[in-house]
This record gives sequence, C-alpha cells and structure tokens, in this order.
Amino acid sequence: MADQHPYSDKVMDHFTNPRNVGDIPDASGVGTVGNPICGDVMKMFLRIENDVIVEVKFKTFGCGAAIATSSMVTEMVKGKTISEALQISNKAVAEALGGLPAVKMHCSVLAEEALRSALQNYYEKLGIPVPFEVKKRGHDEHGHGH
Ligand code: FES
Repeated sequence: MADQHPYSDKVMDHFTNPRNVGDIPDASGVGTVGNPICGDVMKMFLRIENDVIVEVKFKTFGCGAAIATSSMVTEMVKGKTISEALQISNKAVAEALGGLPAVKMHCSVLAEEALRSALQNYYEKLGIPVPFEVKKRGHDEHGHGH
C-alpha cells in the first residue's frame, strides 16, 4: 500500500510487539549500554543457570530499530549457553529480522553490546575474570570525527 517505511515485516512485528520486555529481579547479570550520539539506552537482564541463559528481559529507551533488535536478540539467546550467545553478532540479529536499513545498523550494535555487558556483569558478580573480549564498538564508531 502507501507504506513507504524501509523496515521489514519482522522489524515491524518486533517493534510493535516486542518480546521479553521487563526486568528480572535478582538477575544473574545486568548490562546497560547507550549510544552517546542518539542518546538511546538499552538495559538487558539475564538469569543464568549452569552456563545456560534460562531467562532474559530487556528495557529499551530508543528508536524502533533498537527495540526490534533488542526483542530479537532476547529470542535468540534464550536457552543458549553463554558461549553460544557470545557468537551472536549484531549482523546476525539484523539478518534474523530480515535486514535493517544501513543507517540503522548501529542500532543493532546496541543489542549485541547490551548482551555482552550483561554477561560481563555476570562474571564480575561471580568474581571470575571475563572470558571474552569486551568490545565497545558502537562507541568507537561514533567517537570518530567529533
Ligand atoms: Fe539510537 Fe537507533 S537511533 S539506537
């Protein structure tokens, strides 16, 4: 019809009906990340048992693409082990959504970073060294040219 927006049906579905919104009291790990340019913020909560992500919730104060990617990433990591979850890139999330417009790819970085930040918090709470590299890609990307 006269629908001119560049978003896939899946993006619209996850934006209008996001899965796993909320928080987890006594979460195993909580991660908050923000995009300093647009000001959007994403918070992710994980409940982890025996290395498996058994529950995941999020709250995103952000654009439609950020909400859709957070929703999709929670669906993708639920029931996965930590190491499986760490293999999920922002590109994989965007692909699972049927793609994102190029100008909105940075929004999906927020979802990947929120997940990694929550996992980092999980290890820190346990007092275990974080067994993966903590990237701050979104921030680096946007840090240039300012
Ligand atoms: Fe800020 Fe999409 S515009 S995350």
